[in-house]
Amino acid sequence: MTGGGMLPSPLVLKKRNVAKMKTRELKNIRIEERSPTVEEYQSLKHYTNWEMVEDSDVRTDLDHGIYSVVAYDGPNLVGMGRVVGDLVSYFYVEDIIVHPKHLRIGVGGLILSHIEHYIESIATRYAYIGLIATKGTKEFYKKYGFIERKSSCQGMFKVLKARIQ
Ligand SMILES: CC(C)(COP(=O)(O)OP(=O)(O)OC[C@H]1O[C@@H](n2cnc3c(N)ncnc32)[C@H](O)[C@@H]1OP(=O)(O)O)[C@@H](O)C(=O)NCCC(=O)NCCS
Repeated sequence: MTGGGMLPSPLVLKKRNVAKMKTRELKNIRIEERSPTVEEYQSLKHYTNWEMVEDSDVRTDLDHGIYSVVAYDGPNLVGMGRVVGDLVSYFYVEDIIVHPKHLRIGVGGLILSHIEHYIESIATRYAYIGLIATKGTKEFYKKYGFIERKSSCQGMFKVLKARIQ
């Protein structure tokens, strides 16, 4: 008898195939380091259940971000992510959204890695990267090294009431 070891189980083979497919799909993803247009922003936000914001306010938001990326698969917009902050010590990650048809192949991770790379290139030592992990996204952020704060200092926030036009 030749060779050693047992053959991989069907489950292991299936997992390997899925991993290969994901890698192949991810290779097609192109990251552009730029702000999304208002149309791009709204089209991805549409897939979340977050409050929609007026185009004019989105324009102002986008103009005041410090870094953004959009992700494309060929001609199709598949994701985006943004950062606001003071360029030195405090950074806040916002609006990471991946198109529902492209989830779980690593697009979100790719967006986050560009964001972190940018922040690392300008931040001071011990800079702080904050974010709010919306429902169901904690595992995603944990995978990329974010931790839940469990010290005596609690993160707090306040949502302002909608502006009356
Ligand atoms: C959160 C989000 C950006 C993740 O994007 P994604 O491209 O699917 O993420 P990735 O493929 O890079 O995921 C990497 C890993 O994160 C974890 N992860 C991602 N989504 C997850 C989920 N819904 N549940 C559990 N773990 C998850 C997994 O460990 C995953 O690895 P795996 O697929 O090999 O198991 C995407 O689900 C999304 O756009 N959600 C809607 C918008 C949103 O809530 N954004 C977050 C704003 S705070």
